[in-house]
Amino acid sequence: MIRPAELIQRKRDGGELAADELAELMLAYARGEVPDYQIAAFLMAVYFRGLSEAETFALTDAMVRSGETIDLGTRLGRRVVDKHSTGGVGDKASLVVGPVVAACGVPFGKMSGRGLGHTGGTLDKLESIPGFRVELSAREFIDQVREVGLAIVGQTADLVPADRQLYALRDVTATVDNVSLIAASIMSKKIAAGADAIVLDVKVGDGAFMKTVADARVLGETMIALGRAAGRDVVCELTDMDQPLGHAVGNALEVREALATLRGDGPADLRELVLDACAHLLALSDLGIDHAEGRRRAEQAVLDGTALAAYERWVRAQGGDPDEEGLPRAPLIREIFAPRSGYVGRLAALPVGLAALHLGAGRRRKDDPIDHAVGVVCRRKRGDRVELGEVLAEVHARDEATAREACESVLAAYELVAEPPQTRPIVLDTLA
Ligand code: URA
Repeated sequence: MIRPAELIQRKRDGGELAADELAELMLAYARGEVPDYQIAAFLMAVYFRGLSEAETFALTDAMVRSGETIDLGTRLGRRVVDKHSTGGVGDKASLVVGPVVAACGVPFGKMSGRGLGHTGGTLDKLESIPGFRVELSAREFIDQVREVGLAIVGQTADLVPADRQLYALRDVTATVDNVSLIAASIMSKKIAAGADAIVLDVKVGDGAFMKTVADARVLGETMIALGRAAGRDVVCELTDMDQPLGHAVGNALEVREALATLRGDGPADLRELVLDACAHLLALSDLGIDHAEGRRRAEQAVLDGTALAAYERWVRAQGGDPDEEGLPRAPLIREIFAPRSGYVGRLAALPVGLAALHLGAGRRRKDDPIDHAVGVVCRRKRGDRVELGEVLAEVHARDEATAREACESVLAAYELVAEPPQTRPIVLDTLA
């Protein structure tokens, strides 16, 4: 019988926990036998003291064992692929990557998460689609990947319940940005959901949990090691999160931008990130092609409309209405104008993410409802030329007071400079 307070105290004082102690703590939490307040204290101790490599492996393993695991490859007789990002501002890439990969004939099965801190979550974005169900049983998940070629689901009582509970608790206790907790959270979902090959997108920059390339590399290498130990092929990309990805930030707004990208009409940075991730996934699949051919096929799927058709099949299969007109719209749209002419030298991601959160696009408390309609659209991004009085961004809000506050934060996120700033690629490095 574990005593949570003793384990919390040992971690608080910088000690090491044994694999069986971590396992018991996590499994007891998943069964509802340890209260949130003790796990919140444990998470904060981990945040300050860190976990050793052995503890990180033990935590991940315990989280996987908190629910069922699925061997998708064996069940489908195909190599199944998956992708996951560590979380950023405006990151709707999975909503595009899944349909493109499925359109290329490769099964894609993903277990995703909700928003964390100032970052949005794929599940919240999907729930802005009327009728969309993220809680599928393990059986429904497998059947859908087999029949439709694509499913994205949430952690459930069956699949990694420990992550579902920890994730919600970390979101509201300032314990998200820790390498071991992020690695265990992501890789437990990837391992339990059963894909054979995984592309990880580790975000770096002011809007990401990892602020430097060096920290992002450590997180990437930790996740690659966890994946390899579980017999998975893993490629990890480090990508820029010093400004929001694409233009839209906020759930339904991001689904609209994902749809535009599937139609070949999306922002350049999102399109590049998606095509690169798809190329890696197709090269890791059982199609027997390389990265260059994977990229060519991904581009073709967007051009010939098969990626959009795959999106519509997938959304219908999960009970949703794929018609863009059905997405919710905010009652107020306020424009933000350039106070002078110049180039956008900087568009800080964090204040834009926080503005969207305060508009209601994210949660402040564990059970807060989400307002799917609200958010920010950054019309101008780093490197763009703007003239005095031109629109820099739009705020989509529920009321005047939240709109005003968001307009101030978003305007402060822009830095206008006289000379064009240096360009930076969206994909900064690839670890394999
Ligand atoms: N995504 C996850 O699934 N978990 C984290 O901790 C961070 C991003």
